[in-house]
Amino acid sequence: MSSGNNVVLTVEPGGSLSGTLSVPGDKSVSHRSIMLGSLAEGTTEVEGFLEGEDNLATLNAFRAMGVDIEGPSNGRVVIHGVGMHGLQAPSEPLYLGNAGTSMRLLTGLLAGQAFNVELTGDTSLSSRPMRRVTEPLAEMGAQIQTTGDGTAPLHIHGGQELHGIDFDMPVASAQVKSCLLLAGMYAQEAVRVTEPAPTRDHTERMLEGFGYPIQRDGATVCIEPGGQLKACSLTVPGDISSAAFFLVAASIAPDSDLTLKGIGLNPTRDGVINILRAMGADIEVFNKRQAGGEPVADLRVRTAQLKGIHIPEDQVPLAIDEFPVLFIAAACAEGETLLTGAHELRVKESDRIQVMADGLRAVGVDATPTDDGMVIRGGSIGGGEIDSHGDHRIAMAFAVAGLRASDTIAINDCANVDTSFPRFAELASGVGMRVSSTAGYS
Ligand code: S3P
Repeated sequence: MSSGNNVVLTVEPGGSLSGTLSVPGDKSVSHRSIMLGSLAEGTTEVEGFLEGEDNLATLNAFRAMGVDIEGPSNGRVVIHGVGMHGLQAPSEPLYLGNAGTSMRLLTGLLAGQAFNVELTGDTSLSSRPMRRVTEPLAEMGAQIQTTGDGTAPLHIHGGQELHGIDFDMPVASAQVKSCLLLAGMYAQEAVRVTEPAPTRDHTERMLEGFGYPIQRDGATVCIEPGGQLKACSLTVPGDISSAAFFLVAASIAPDSDLTLKGIGLNPTRDGVINILRAMGADIEVFNKRQAGGEPVADLRVRTAQLKGIHIPEDQVPLAIDEFPVLFIAAACAEGETLLTGAHELRVKESDRIQVMADGLRAVGVDATPTDDGMVIRGGSIGGGEIDSHGDHRIAMAFAVAGLRASDTIAINDCANVDTSFPRFAELASGVGMRVSSTAGYS
């Protein structure tokens, strides 16, 4: 994707945050709005769509399967749904860039179509585990080929009869759950998925919003085939995973007082707030409302002295994307922070345990990676050079670290910030962070 184009984020030390900020739309909800809107009967209007590269990959994939989609233009997308059986075979492989959610959810959705399709991605996506979706789908009768390592490219052979499944997920993964629910719309019998811990439930909420019934019973969710999706209008909430950078930034920078507007506060995503509060953060939640079937609120965050904690394991799936920046919070906290039960971080856009530990050590922080987490002793942060390994959230996390650094931090390989947070450096500078983005060639 970046083919030699090394975008560098440079962060000068110091700064404090103030003012009001709206972050871009939620990535998970934006993906699902394109998928369900495309399969619906009628025209779906989406506001607040995240125009990041991951979501654009999903949008382009559906265009390539014959769906007429207008936009995005200032977050507005109009999808002319083709109905449950209206997708057409794409003429080329569908390239999904860096987007794991797109690949895993599409694999389920496409397993039950009448045509063959190949899914490809960038280097990071092509090294991420796909057997977690292809194996249960194969049990349902799908025919999908992976590489010998269980990775993309994925060759999906359509025209298979899919059967029901009663699946106990071995890992807490919303992507696996969602993949099977989407395949379940095309199966002969019910698909039942049980999760070992609560994971984000945007797929379930949006299916209901589009009028497709599902049943929830404790940790189990069940979908029956034969339903219809009816077009609707929906507003995508601000992404709490993007807001998280500012929750930590305003907590660790002196004299900060920042308000974040319209942030999605789905209870399966609010771990970052619970964890930061347990560390002593001053976060106020107000103006609670609903948008697009999701709870939304405004957040006010002020500087606080954070303290180290053992992060409760039940919060891990609820904050799974926020650990890069939570590690920065830990580096600024008094005492030791211990994360356990987070092995999944090793198979995200990068190995977030190793890459964050390497980066923290590069700027003088005492960080020890473990198999399933990290031990971080709070203290001072120095300057230095960081390799983000092309991982958007690693890059943005170290931009936040600059607020408490004693010298300049230069973060390499940051082009992928655009996958989830276009214009990050501009928005961050607008509220007081000293970060700038420059494109160079490596
Ligand atoms: C996502 C689920 C999570 C998360 C990812 C988005 C989703 O992955 O890390 O960024 O939209 O369903 P897992 O379900 O694999 O943990």
